[in-house]
Amino acid sequence: PRRVRTVHLRRFKEAGERFAMLTAYDATMAGIFDRAGVEVLLVGDSAANVMMGRSTTLSMTVEEMLVYSRSVVAGAERALVIADVPFGSYEASPQQAVETGVRLMKEGGVHAVKVEGGAAMAGHVRAMVAAGIPVMAHIGFTPQSEHALGGYRVQGRGEAGERLLADARALEEAGAFSVLMEMVPAAVAAEVDAGLAVPTVGIGAGSGTTGQVLVWQDMLGLTAGRKPRFVREYADLRSTVAEAVGAYREDVRTGRFPAEEHSFDD
Ligand code: KIV
Ligand code: NA
Repeated sequence: PRRVRTVHLRRFKEAGERFAMLTAYDATMAGIFDRAGVEVLLVGDSAANVMMGRSTTLSMTVEEMLVYSRSVVAGAERALVIADVPFGSYEASPQQAVETGVRLMKEGGVHAVKVEGGAAMAGHVRAMVAAGIPVMAHIGFTPQSEHALGGYRVQGRGEAGERLLADARALEEAGAFSVLMEMVPAAVAAEVDAGLAVPTVGIGAGSGTTGQVLVWQDMLGLTAGRKPRFVREYADLRSTVAEAVGAYREDVRTGRFPAEEHSFDD
């Protein structure tokens, strides 16, 4: 199958079509998502939450991101694979951003990276793009700035909507191939998409963006606890897995597993 590239995402927008993006952290799930046709796989630093059980994404290291990146790249034949640039590995300077982006592409094998931050990161994005690193910008609610933003809250309401549009324009002008918006009013996100030539991606940003993204464990009903408003659960894997594992345990305890067909003759 032909690899999805950033130019194809641009064509989706030009044709008035949408594309789907989903997180992935391992080869097995990446392979399933890839074969299901998902255009873009995001090796999100949400791995800190859903894979490593941490409460924020702040502690994610480049080394950890490289392991997840290589795993997803190994499982994806067709999808465009994007890695998050971890907190603390790019902000200090455009040079630091280039160095980390190069590592994620060279050692992690990903095709592009995603960088959190608005117009303040435009210089970093420009330097990365000049170095040959395709960059998706991430604005609105940016989880790496959770403490600076005062927790999980919608961004870009009221006058902040103008700033969001200005941020998006600055990032597009810096060369970002796409702008992702998280937890932004639907009307604002639609306005940003209309104001840019590059495709946008939304999570909690309504239906006016070019693409949509979700964390796969949320979308497949694996995540425990309260479900964010922007999530739709397409399966109930938590129950499915719990029931299957319970049945396995019961079979082991009662001697029903393994049966003859699972055993070798002498
Ligand atoms: O890390 C992540 O999963 C993300 C998104 C859900 C946008 O950045
Ligand atoms: Na992320």
